[in-house]
Amino acid sequence: MIVLKSDAEITSMRKAGHFAWELLEKVEPLIRPGISTQEIDNFIASYTKERGGICAPLNYHGFPKSVCTSVNEVVCHGIPNRKHILREGDIINVDVTPIFDGFHGDSSRTYLVGEKVSPVARKLTECAKQCLDLAIATVFDGSRLGDIGHAIQKHAEGQGFSVVRAFVGHGIGRVFHEDPQIPHYGQAGKGIRLTKGMVFTIEPMINEGHWDCRVLADRWTAVTKDGKLSAQFEHTIAIRHDGSVEILTLP
Ligand code: MF3
Ligand code: CO
Ligand code: CO
Repeated sequence: MIVLKSDAEITSMRKAGHFAWELLEKVEPLIRPGISTQEIDNFIASYTKERGGICAPLNYHGFPKSVCTSVNEVVCHGIPNRKHILREGDIINVDVTPIFDGFHGDSSRTYLVGEKVSPVARKLTECAKQCLDLAIATVFDGSRLGDIGHAIQKHAEGQGFSVVRAFVGHGIGRVFHEDPQIPHYGQAGKGIRLTKGMVFTIEPMINEGHWDCRVLADRWTAVTKDGKLSAQFEHTIAIRHDGSVEILTLP
């Protein structure tokens, strides 16, 4: 069941959305060789609390931290850890989901660590960002779900990369993950029509090698099966009742 939001509710969702953007801006200068992923968690947790928000990931189905930090071959749901120190040349996705006024805002970016990131890691990261932008550009009142996945798949596969199947975007609101699921692969012109009042994430995970993933023994950390790199970007998008498309996780 898709929960459609009123314009007033979408306006309320800006607060969490804009705060997610602010977190991702403020965390950027922290990300350098020598810091631990736990230090990222500490910053996200304390800054969100200070501003009166809640970190949705903490205790979500047992997730133990306030943010996901996914380094190199980690596709998503990486768990911050004080022993995991970032190194020159790593890429790291930071995925934040603050709650304000009962509504979730969900966004992530992949950052380059230091100056020595390999050309392929840079190209993959840039490609994931472009996939998100191309996917958002397909969205309008009456567009098809498959248009989103098609745009992503065409761009990623065109560059020799692959699109993760096991994790999808999602409807979002008072609930973190709600209907519909938003696959990042698919066929143009197929699938349900997107309509006014829908609020959902698009969060393509693009792999350097094969799209297949496996989950580690911690039951959260998803990694590429072939051990190659993965990059991701995410925004929360709304279709307002005047038909305009708003990226809630931008200022
Ligand atoms: N923020 C992730 C998403 O984009 C979900 C993280 S669930 C958690 O949907 F429990 F790992 F935090
Ligand atoms: Co999400
Ligand atoms: Co997210």
